Amino acid sequence: MTTALNRRTRATRNRTVSRPARSERKQGLGSSRTASLVVVANRLPVHRVGVGSNAHWESSAGGLVTAVAPVMKKLPGVWVGWSGNDASIKPFIHDRMRIRPVTLGREEVAKYYDGMSNRTFWPLYHDAIRPPEFQREWWKKYVAVNARFAQAAAAEAARGDIVWVHDYHLQLVPAMLRERRPDLRIGFFLHIPFPPEELFEWLPWREEILKGLLGADVIGFQSPMAAQNFSRLCRHYAEAEGTGTSLRYEGRPIVNRAFPISIDFDWFDIRAKSPAAREGVAELRSRLGAKRKILLAIDRLDYTKGVVRRLQAVEELFERGLAKAEDCVFVQIATPSREAVAEYATLRDEVETIVGRINGKFSQPGRVAVHYFRRNLTREELITYYAAADVMLVTPLRDGMNLVAKEFVACRSDSTGVLVLSQFAGAARELTRALTVNPRDQDHFVEALRTALKMPREEARMRMSMLRSRVKRDDVYAWCDDFLSELRGTK
Ligand code: ADP
Ligand code: F6P
Repeated sequence: MTTALNRRTRATRNRTVSRPARSERKQGLGSSRTASLVVVANRLPVHRVGVGSNAHWESSAGGLVTAVAPVMKKLPGVWVGWSGNDASIKPFIHDRMRIRPVTLGREEVAKYYDGMSNRTFWPLYHDAIRPPEFQREWWKKYVAVNARFAQAAAAEAARGDIVWVHDYHLQLVPAMLRERRPDLRIGFFLHIPFPPEELFEWLPWREEILKGLLGADVIGFQSPMAAQNFSRLCRHYAEAEGTGTSLRYEGRPIVNRAFPISIDFDWFDIRAKSPAAREGVAELRSRLGAKRKILLAIDRLDYTKGVVRRLQAVEELFERGLAKAEDCVFVQIATPSREAVAEYATLRDEVETIVGRINGKFSQPGRVAVHYFRRNLTREELITYYAAADVMLVTPLRDGMNLVAKEFVACRSDSTGVLVLSQFAGAARELTRALTVNPRDQDHFVEALRTALKMPREEARMRMSMLRSRVKRDDVYAWCDDFLSELRGTK
């Protein structure tokens, strides 16, 4: 069904394609001088794996790529980002996206990415779930690498173009870019939470970060709370003036507000309904045990995702006899992530120990209680799991949004399936018909699992159809149009 809003969204979507394809062709493969949208993000949508004749590009996991890639495929532009290793790679085109790799050396990866991005900003911005570390050496490399990204973006952008900078790795880029190229419209979107003052204030370079971000014309956050936190901090530490959603800094107006990110609903919906997906679901269900209820979780293997607490809740479910391996199976799919960072390696060991413990206690011949896959899956494989599950567990301890929750909803065209969602995922603000849990409250968590497993079909259907309408309406194209029209001043 085509809603009025989706019609509007599609019309606006077409409007954003502002350069003729012919001029792109004239520039030739690899050149991006006429890009009208320059996306700047640490991650490219693809990363290089394997060596020698086995080397190939694989799609990168993570919410940023899931959201921005479909948008980039429809717009003339270029994606500036890191290729995932230290090889120097020339610009190229991949799946209709023009890619401009930025090469980082080993020391830069260790200090800018593993260190400053993932051991300082990541834990600090996620409620300090792990203690953030502050090291001057990391900061110096962070500044240097941000300058390199700003330089690459400036070289890619034609006069008056739009540059859209993404995420916590590149918070200095907006101001660095403005200094080089005041003719550009610059946007910044933060995919993760922005912390309250009492946490952000720990940062030795707090003023530099705020001023770096204030180089943008539009600064987007996942939640209104994050935008409020930012605005208060800017008034306090950067002498900015203004309200919760609009600031003035160095004589320039800046919009800072929430733009909750989303997914390409139709893309998932269409594939999940296809005969191939249906066949895949039937096969998967029969392999897991046709009559068994399937509990599913899919995450990057990150300590913010609450994998350990979730396994403990599942363990208690089996322990108390509320579920039996005979009639219930838990499938945990985890994509390896940031393994050079100690906390991630520890988490992996912890998860593998608990999975072993649960299976040791509760599996039966031919009936494994927990299936654990630590690997990257293709989108088609993920869709099969989403469409086969009875209950989806999305239970992070803190998450800016969590697109897995929305992908699950988009794959349930028959409106079956129950979503158990942490109240600390940004998605909980929109997906109010999910069963919400506090993942740190184990009694509550186990109770929610029990309720989900027993939920009457009619109630599940009613909840899921409301969830689907919401994600279909507020899809990634609506997010992108909202942000870009604010940035272009056409709102
Ligand atoms: P984050 O951005 O923190 O990784 P999100 O839930 O917003 O969290 O996004 C995760 C994205 O990564 C989703 O699009 C999901 O489909 C994808 N993903 C997660 N696990 C896997 C996996 N094992 N294989 C492939 N893709 C995955
Ligand atoms: O969505 C948050 C995010 O940190 C993205 O910025 C990132 O691309 C994704 O998660 C995956 O993390 P990484 O790029 O470190 O593998």
